[in-house]
Amino acid sequence: MSAGPQPIADALVLFGATGDLSKRKLFPALYRMEDHGTLNVPVVGVARSDWSDAAFCQHAHDSVLAAIPDAKAAVIDSLLARLDLIQGDYADPKTWATLARTLKKHKSEHAVFYMAIPPTMFPTVAQSLASVGLNERGRIVVEKPFGRDLASAKELNTTLHTIFPEERIFRIDHYLGKESVEDLLVFRFSNTLLEPVWNRNYVRSVQITMSETIGVEGRGSFYDGVGTIRDVLQNHLLQVLALVAMEPPVGPESSFLQDEKAKVFAAMRPIDPAMMVRGQYVGYREEEGVAQDSTVETFVAAKLEIDSWRWAGVPWFVRCGKGLTANATEVVVEFREPPSLLFDEAGGPTPERNLVRFRLGKQDGVTFTLQAKTPGQHLDSQQVDVAVDFAAALGERREAYERLLGDALAGEPRRFAREDIVEQTWRVIQPALDSAAGTATGGVGTAVHPYFRGSWGPAEADRILKGDTWYLPAN
Ligand code: BG6
Repeated sequence: MSAGPQPIADALVLFGATGDLSKRKLFPALYRMEDHGTLNVPVVGVARSDWSDAAFCQHAHDSVLAAIPDAKAAVIDSLLARLDLIQGDYADPKTWATLARTLKKHKSEHAVFYMAIPPTMFPTVAQSLASVGLNERGRIVVEKPFGRDLASAKELNTTLHTIFPEERIFRIDHYLGKESVEDLLVFRFSNTLLEPVWNRNYVRSVQITMSETIGVEGRGSFYDGVGTIRDVLQNHLLQVLALVAMEPPVGPESSFLQDEKAKVFAAMRPIDPAMMVRGQYVGYREEEGVAQDSTVETFVAAKLEIDSWRWAGVPWFVRCGKGLTANATEVVVEFREPPSLLFDEAGGPTPERNLVRFRLGKQDGVTFTLQAKTPGQHLDSQQVDVAVDFAAALGERREAYERLLGDALAGEPRRFAREDIVEQTWRVIQPALDSAAGTATGGVGTAVHPYFRGSWGPAEADRILKGDTWYLPAN
């Protein structure tokens, strides 16, 4: 059962307030909340940089405008009026005393502490919060990556649990805040059409693609210590996969949803490194902050398997990478072909396989690829798409970080990752990390295949499909 409702937060504390994530995502999200009338708390920025209040406000102002060029001046002004800046070294007890005083000034008892800081600093910051008693009633929001592998994720969970109970640790995966991703859950379980065929009897394979045209874009030094497997496969892609694969939750509470996801991962086999292909785009090693002999992957493709009654024997092919030819996040569920008897008689082509394609990127929607009669005398069929664009049909979605910040303030854990799920995903991924690092082979990792920017990654990625092809994203 769920832990019960949590109090609504009365302050938001932003660690890493002058950093990249705050600039790109958090200030624009706060602006949107202000605009929608949902930001009703003071926002206290904490940063090591030697910034003045004025410089901080200017930074917030510029961050909003960079993301939302037509932002309304009056809304920005109201947002800026909520901001307070605390500067100081995280290792200095005075910083924490000042934070406690500032929250007291705001009469805050239930603050949300958002860690937009490097993961190595999570334990220090959590311990420092405890040193001034701010862990007693507050919640923390922890950004990904949550650990570097299974062992460090477990260690981080153990450390955080000595300071905050699980129900007050909100692990962010911004894909869970995307309405298009959440629609996987709603679309599957609000339509009876899909459920009877959503299993190994009818589904031949599932492909999940997350492709980005951008390279590492100034994040070279971060990315070179992480790579694609840790950056997006362990979290975003596996979370999407779980929503496609899971059983219907028995109720809307967070714990029911998390339980079903946990079952998917518990039934998932650890990645077989022989069924994984890593790639690196040509030019990556020349990016700032990247080692000249780096073998870190900017692309990975892998086959996953779920040993459950619903999915045993169905391959789940996933691929993700940077510097690819299109920006797309898609799930393609491929159905088995019908028996060809009718079409044998006509001597025509066998119908192609049906697909359900969930488009989760910017123009999100669903496309059913079906067969319909080709005009003429014969009983031939050909492919037709039945497609819906959700924004056009239903109106614009809200942005992921706005929704997640709102949830964190409201104390709603449903769109955050639970401890056991994060650990299970690392368990599944661990052999991929070990083989990439060459842990068992004296440091000689699996090959990283070069590919050109603007391609679909290394040709070797086709190998894991065993004769099939990757479906090209629709947009
Ligand atoms: C982040 C990764 O979590 O997700 C980035 O660190 C990636 O490397 C980004 O570019 C993609 O997010 P979105 O919302 O643009 O698909």
